[in-house]
Amino acid sequence: MLTIRQLNCSYGETTILRNINLTIPPGKVMALMGRNGVGKTTLLKTVMGLLRPLAGEIFFDGQEITHWAPEKRAREGIGYVPQGRDIFPYLTVEENLLLGLEAHKAGRAMAIPEGLFDLFPALKSMLLRKGGNLSGGEQQQLAIARVLVSEPKLLLLDEPTEGIQPSIVLQIENTIRFIKEQGTISILLVEQYLEFALRLADYYYIMEKGSIVSEGITHDISKEVIANHLTV
Ligand SMILES: Nc1ncnc2c1ncn2[C@@H]1O[C@H](COP(=O)(O)OP(=O)(O)OP(=O)(O)O)[C@@H](O)[C@H]1O
Ligand SMILES: [Mg+2]
Repeated sequence: MLTIRQLNCSYGETTILRNINLTIPPGKVMALMGRNGVGKTTLLKTVMGLLRPLAGEIFFDGQEITHWAPEKRAREGIGYVPQGRDIFPYLTVEENLLLGLEAHKAGRAMAIPEGLFDLFPALKSMLLRKGGNLSGGEQQQLAIARVLVSEPKLLLLDEPTEGIQPSIVLQIENTIRFIKEQGTISILLVEQYLEFALRLADYYYIMEKGSIVSEGITHDISKEVIANHLTV
């Protein structure tokens, strides 16, 4: 679904991503892990087209998208839930969801699919509340729901559990598991909450200083890899 080849990216003079190679097969969940500041968000932003790579190629669903604008990537099926959620606080839940439709290939004529509320029942009773009045966990659910209304083929999730209380983390885990079980959306999950990432992901990548330093099947991840690259 997504293939990244030899991707390099910098902020000004500072190189952030170094020769990144990464593949996400259809319907799989890939965890991208690593300590603070290693470049995880930078990689997601580059996949979404918010940052331009210095070198390398990105292929999505059979097309080279390296130089596409973010809007085009969104319409073609890449959904991005940024770190810190980024919902519109002064708009209602319903308005936030309707804005998600802008990224749908078919455009605004569409309505919010009723099935969405099977996945997010709590949001249905909150449609008229302002996004900013929702709890952190509810905002995270809203941010994911807003991207799902555009019916993405690939979902980029940046630290969905960050700053969220444990009981809600479980809800978010169930949401991601449900999406995974449907099997139609691939997920690149950036996550520092190790157990959460390992429970959900089929495959893992670990970054350090802008490079992928370890990758493999989640089930087989070793204690050494965790100790060397993920613990403080
Ligand atoms: N807008 C920016 N301008 C310059 N440098 C930046 C910018 N954003 C991030 N950086 C730097 O790029 C590096 C990678 O940042 P990035 O946000 O991708 O890390 P991260 O792995 O997502 O970290 P975290 O786990 O804390 O979210 C860091 O050294 C950071 O300071
Ligand atoms: Mg980050």
